[in-house]
Amino acid sequence: MPEIPSESSSLSSTPSSAPPSSPSAPGSASPGPPPGIVSRLRAAGCVFAEDEALLLARAARTPADLDALVERRVAGLPLEQVVGWAEFCGLRVAVEPGVFVPRRRTEFLVREAVALTREAGAGRGPRTGPAVVVDLCCGSGAVGAALAASLDRAEVHAADIDPTAVRCARRNLAPAGGRVYEGDLFEPLPAGLRGRVDVLAANVPYVPTGEVDLLPAEARLHEPRVALDGGEDGLAVLRRVTAAATGWLVPGGSLLFETSRRQAAQAVEAVARGGLVPMLAGSEELHATVVIGTRPCL
Ligand SMILES: C[S@@+](CC[C@H](N)C(=O)[O-])C[C@H]1O[C@@H](n2cnc3c(N)ncnc32)[C@H](O)[C@@H]1O
Repeated sequence: MPEIPSESSSLSSTPSSAPPSSPSAPGSASPGPPPGIVSRLRAAGCVFAEDEALLLARAARTPADLDALVERRVAGLPLEQVVGWAEFCGLRVAVEPGVFVPRRRTEFLVREAVALTREAGAGRGPRTGPAVVVDLCCGSGAVGAALAASLDRAEVHAADIDPTAVRCARRNLAPAGGRVYEGDLFEPLPAGLRGRVDVLAANVPYVPTGEVDLLPAEARLHEPRVALDGGEDGLAVLRRVTAAATGWLVPGGSLLFETSRRQAAQAVEAVARGGLVPMLAGSEELHATVVIGTRPCL
């Protein structure tokens, strides 16, 4: 499966700063990247111009189509939005223009969520139903799709305030039977989910308002501000989530979200204030910091 790795280590990183790799099928002759395209991409500052040229050529249906794709990439759109997909946890996730590009580091949050769900499930004895997963602030729905693919059985719900993200997430979650709702945080979720959620993944925006203008152009210009801006200290949306999460979690269920190292202590405090037991997890490899808040068992 083709891969679009990303060097992004925080929301402040550009989504597609590392080369996409798209190996040919075994035995097939590799045509090589179209040379004219490579030089156009290189002139526009694409560091991995050969790899990108190959991916764009594979995404195009006609020479005119290829020209249009290259134009969009040269104009600065994230590669994932141009080709229409990103690789995430081994899945090919649809990414539409104007939708936040799932970052490679977020795979760490998925791993943590899967491990916790298995542990909690084992602690409760044989599970009678599927794990209930909510992907809040779902963007493309990559997190929900990856959790659905990793857990044996999962009932997946997702929500986002941005209609473009909701449309994209519906495409990605349909194969898993996931439901996607549009609205502000928990407001659009069915009331029947209260007290039933095993995993509440909430990858909220967490860039402080004053730092949004410092983001690389790919993010600043082509990802919606609502996906990036986390308020004055970057934790405004997060505090609203932590204040309400307990009411939605099953005892033993967990809230998980990403944060920056700098914000981690305050994020942990917010989790504790919300009545959850906080835990901090990190991955050096993926440059990821994840805060986990678990609802105490009765
Ligand atoms: C950082 S992006 C994360 C997207 C996705 N979870 C991921 O990891 O790729 C944050 C998302 O939160 C959504 N969002 C921001 N404020 C929201 C709110 N008040 N209610 C629901 N969604 C919100 C944005 O539209 C955006 O899709």
